[in-house]
Amino acid sequence: MDFKIAIIPGDGIGVDVVSEGVKVLERIGEVYGHNFKYEHMLVGGCCIDKHGTPIMDESIEKCKSCDAILFGAVGGPKWDALPREQRPERGLARLRREFNLFANLRPAKIYEDLKDKSPLKNSIIEKGIDIMLIRDLTGGIYFNEKGRREGKYGLEAYDVECYSVMEVTRVAKKAFELALQRKKRVISVDKSNALESSKIWRDTVTEVAKEYPEVELKHMLVDKAAMELACNPSIFDVILTTSIFGDILSDEAGVTTGSVGMLASASLNENNFGLYEPIHGTAPDIAGKGIANPLATIVSVAMMLEIALNLPKEAAAIDRAIKQVLSEGYRTPDIYTEGTKKVTTIEMGTLTAAKIS
Ligand code: NAD
Ligand code: IPM
Ligand code: MN
Repeated sequence: MDFKIAIIPGDGIGVDVVSEGVKVLERIGEVYGHNFKYEHMLVGGCCIDKHGTPIMDESIEKCKSCDAILFGAVGGPKWDALPREQRPERGLARLRREFNLFANLRPAKIYEDLKDKSPLKNSIIEKGIDIMLIRDLTGGIYFNEKGRREGKYGLEAYDVECYSVMEVTRVAKKAFELALQRKKRVISVDKSNALESSKIWRDTVTEVAKEYPEVELKHMLVDKAAMELACNPSIFDVILTTSIFGDILSDEAGVTTGSVGMLASASLNENNFGLYEPIHGTAPDIAGKGIANPLATIVSVAMMLEIALNLPKEAAAIDRAIKQVLSEGYRTPDIYTEGTKKVTTIEMGTLTAAKIS
């Protein structure tokens, strides 16, 4: 079949890891007889440098003509001093907003061969880690009113956390639907003992749950959830949460599986159109060294094949290839342990692509 994919590497290691994602996609095309066409575009700091804006209007239009978006990461110290509206992250925020990508799926699963890399004790991880975190991505404190004003103590700044019943309902439905395909357990994470927005979150999720009687719903406060992720990650199947809590908890859930360099994501709208990206950032500390782990992006490509292109067999082939490469002992530095074979970003991509069958 023919598909068109928007390719947006962004900044820092985004560029290195997206090339490897495309390499694997090309190999899928060869082995399974698909033809992938690409629309390459700049978003983030690189776009600011070239065009003076983090994203061009024409890029939004180009994305509309594609079946899915593959994204790397944006941002970096070079652009940190810019005013908020002009920062690289605004490019990503605009894509999320323009395409109404409200449901952010962030799976965290431990690979058998990477158990040694988990910062958690064996006694904890042997019970298994297989979490699907669903984060609201277009509402909440990152997207609502913010500003500065004169307050009681002089200059102050504020960001508003706000959720509507509509926003909670639509993301909760996604979570329950995904739970039906998994272990049928949803834990909704909020801070309803302190926040009114969390109270509406909790009440709305409870209402939505009535439409899904087969799914067990529990509520958990975010501070407890942070603790349980470190001590008892096996209790989680689907986690449903707000934008800010999901941002923080997904890095935590992710790293329990070994490295943030392994964690993929899909950001979807009501029609399942989506942007696929690793959850990590541009990693300025290792950018340009050729050592970033491309597997998070490669897993994102697998999610894209499954969700956007309806190619589950091809997605499974990527999963098998990654497991094989890991079981043969190949590791980028972030997942390296003594006795394994250290490889670069490019080598990891090439090895994984070669295992696709
Ligand atoms: P980061 O995720 O870039 O890095 C955190 C740590 O994880 C670093 O030590 C880094 O080296 C390591 N790491 C991340 N990805 C890795 C990979 N693939 N392989 C090996 N190691 C990896 O987070 P940060 O340092 O807080 O942010 C850096 C920049 O990235 C900031 O400008 C931030 O705004 C941006 N950012 C962008 C996105 C995005 O575009 N979606 C997400 C997060 C952060
Ligand atoms: C992420 C990132 C972004 C977010 C930043 C860059 C705004 O941290 O995708 O996890 O929190 O949405
Ligand atoms: Mn984040």
